[in-house]
Amino acid sequence: MKFETALIHAGQDADKTTGSVNIPVYQTSTYKQDGIGKDRGWEYSRTGNPTRKALEDCIAALEGAKYGLAFASGLAAESTACLGLLRKGDHVVSGDDVYGGTYRLFEKVFRKWGLEISYADSKDPNSFKKAMRRNTRMIWAETPTNPLLNITDIAALADIAKKGKAILAVDNTFATPYFQRPIELGADIVVHSSTKYLGGHSDVIGGLMAVADKGVYEEVKFHQNAAGGVPGPWDSWLTLRGMKTLAVRMKAHEANAFAVAAFLTAHPAVAKVYYPGLETHPSHALADRQMDGFGGMVSFELKGGRAAAEAFFRKLKIFVLAESLGGVESLACYPSTMTHAAIPERDRLKRGITAGLVRLSAGIENSDDLIKDLDRALK
Ligand SMILES: Cc1ncc(COP(=O)(O)O)c(C=O)c1O
Repeated sequence: MKFETALIHAGQDADKTTGSVNIPVYQTSTYKQDGIGKDRGWEYSRTGNPTRKALEDCIAALEGAKYGLAFASGLAAESTACLGLLRKGDHVVSGDDVYGGTYRLFEKVFRKWGLEISYADSKDPNSFKKAMRRNTRMIWAETPTNPLLNITDIAALADIAKKGKAILAVDNTFATPYFQRPIELGADIVVHSSTKYLGGHSDVIGGLMAVADKGVYEEVKFHQNAAGGVPGPWDSWLTLRGMKTLAVRMKAHEANAFAVAAFLTAHPAVAKVYYPGLETHPSHALADRQMDGFGGMVSFELKGGRAAAEAFFRKLKIFVLAESLGGVESLACYPSTMTHAAIPERDRLKRGITAGLVRLSAGIENSDDLIKDLDRALK
């Protein structure tokens, strides 16, 4: 099945009872059993639910993985991966440019449970290699990164992970499987905030995971049920419905991102544009090799710092100042005080998250309107 077809059909055969073309919202917490030990394959909706299962099978197919798992949020997926696969005293090497909430999860939650975490340069596989220790059990990479759109070489990290007997987990939220399939490049686990492009309409919080190996899947699956951070059937259904149009949306997001990046590059108020589709992006060649497209996220640095950013956000009319990304509507975000506020200022600045940095999520509106909006806000 080709990707566009899998979006509509993978895991989503017509309902066995009624023939319903759409997978029904199985809004139930529990299931009748025909006798002691005689359930019909479903026992309790934390453990499994048919609507959630359709979503789990669909993400597995899209990522070219054997197994899929759904969670209540992207961070619930990340927590469950750590809970399921890591023990006290294990070491994680994470890329240094990751979503602020991922950093917070490592630093404020798992460090106090005895996990060791260190950070490597997201752009440089050698930096990951150098950071490996005897007790490294996981490499964590987000690519393209949030918010600086750095690209990490997934195949190179897979090689380092394999040699170090560690698991490679890749956060594929920004690219989606439409543009990038990390498991094909050697990753063991793919994690998503399906709140973003997969759901696609800014109306549902969710997390998804795709896993290549049965043993890894079983450990995470055990923790999915034992820790319980699962999505309800209605959220699973909304996410599945959003995913059906992923291919057409991603093309439109990308076309608008290209238009926005080109406009910003030529604008005198802009010091720097971060978009992997630009030939001037330092990892453009790598992005071109490991991805099928460059995505819909563009970040840029305003010359005037915080004051310029405040004026810019005040004048926007179509781009909405808001957290999140990947919806059909264009969003603008100020990482320093929003998505990356959990990172101490000194570390933020070291990573390039400055007072002039703005992150844009190009929606699927007409690009002329988006450019006009940016032009007005930059005056
Ligand atoms: C790249 C990335 N990963 C993970 C998350 C966390 O996902 P959620 O907000 O669904 O918990 C986010 C949220 O913004 C994100 O941008």
